[in-house]
Amino acid sequence: MSLESPVLAIDPLLDDPRTRILVCCGSGGVGKTTTAAALGVRAAERGRKAVVLTIDPARRLAQSMGLSELDNTPRRVNGIDESAGGELHAMMLDMKRTFDEVVLQHSDPERARAILENPFYQSLSAGFAGTQEYMAMEKLGQLRALDAWDLIIVDTPPSRSALDFLDAPKRLGSFLDGRFIRLLMAPAKVGGRAGVKFLNMGMSVMTGTLNKVVGGQLLRDVQTFVAAMDSMFGGFRKRADATYKLLQANGTAFLVVAAPERDALREASYFVERLAAEDMPLAGLVLNRVHRSGAERLTAERALAAAEALEEDDEGSEEASPESPTPLPSGEFDESAENLQTVGIVDQPDGKVGLRTNSPESETKETHTHDAYDAHRLAAGLLRLHAERMQLVARERRTRDRFVSVHPEVPMVDVAALPGDVHDLAGLREIGERLAQGQPTAA
Ligand SMILES: Nc1ncnc2c1ncn2[C@@H]1O[C@H](COP(=O)(O)OP(=O)(O)OP(=O)(O)O)[C@@H](O)[C@H]1O
Ligand SMILES: [Mg+2]
Repeated sequence: MSLESPVLAIDPLLDDPRTRILVCCGSGGVGKTTTAAALGVRAAERGRKAVVLTIDPARRLAQSMGLSELDNTPRRVNGIDESAGGELHAMMLDMKRTFDEVVLQHSDPERARAILENPFYQSLSAGFAGTQEYMAMEKLGQLRALDAWDLIIVDTPPSRSALDFLDAPKRLGSFLDGRFIRLLMAPAKVGGRAGVKFLNMGMSVMTGTLNKVVGGQLLRDVQTFVAAMDSMFGGFRKRADATYKLLQANGTAFLVVAAPERDALREASYFVERLAAEDMPLAGLVLNRVHRSGAERLTAERALAAAEALEEDDEGSEEASPESPTPLPSGEFDESAENLQTVGIVDQPDGKVGLRTNSPESETKETHTHDAYDAHRLAAGLLRLHAERMQLVARERRTRDRFVSVHPEVPMVDVAALPGDVHDLAGLREIGERLAQGQPTAA
């Protein structure tokens, strides 16, 4: 029996006008981008004016949302049912461009150009760990300030750890404030003093010597860069802090996405604790890509035993009558079953599981004359697959129960795995349905 936890009611959360920011966090590959996009579609179709900030969406998903333009501003998504008065806008975060925008916003045009063209800047803006997280927060801050949407849904970068989203901006901020500038100042320390002022004044004095060592152009690059960035260093920290506060504000809610696997749920567990420690509001946990079976009455053990019995039967089933094929339990299989193509068992469009013959075109004689031996073999194969599926279901349930026993207060919703990837609006709607399914029936 699996442990109960409160149900995460998605629709009331999406419908509540006080919900202004939803952040989808979680460890790598668990379905953050998919969940964020699905929530966006659902919110818009329920009447919210929503914007989704996605990060590195898969190409097909991006295309289906009209995200082929990388201009770093939200665009209206076509194909959304707007009859409830909502709209969906979406954008992909372009990290480098967001960094450029920050520079342009916070320095005069000439200085901005000096920074943007500087080779140090170019590697800085792309290369630092944490830049993407910082820029995601920066963009969130910008979108919020525009105040053009009533709901902002934020996807988070594909970090290994969910905590990176919270930690990286501060780390980057202090890096830019401290270590980085000291690093660039290192040549100036030769003179026994440090500090931007000194660098600016002292540089010319030292240039003669350093030119020989470092090379004139490089030195000038460092110098202009440090001078220009100096005006912004304090800003980075402050802005990261401001966005951090936004995440603690009323109207923000975090959704932690996790796969029903040990590592992902352990990460989710850390994250839940961290949110509590930071006073950041947790809406709940989305357990994504959960496997189910529509034939749970048939246990793994019984399915295996039946498969063995059938296989034993086969010793000598050559004489068995073709008129008595073993009934296949195919109708009982859940539509969420993923394709099991290697053994010739596939999901049909109607959600049923069917058998695929090796040569579909020879539909006639051979297929129709397959004898009891074949039927037994296929039935046994299907039973073994069912047993495997049931074992997976049980394993996922145990992992989930472990999480629930540590965090019994965290609302949760299960999202069953779809048979294939989610790459269009229909798929996103389906995920949205599944997200909302856990809730009590609306009054
Ligand atoms: N419920 C689901 N059923 C089937 N496929 C899913 C489901 N959720 C996500 N996927 C698929 O899993 C893959 C990973 O999902 P997604 O890109 O949303 O994860 P992510 O957490 O954003 O990954 P990253 O950490 O790399 O950003 C995608 O191909 C997506 O289509
Ligand atoms: Mg992603």
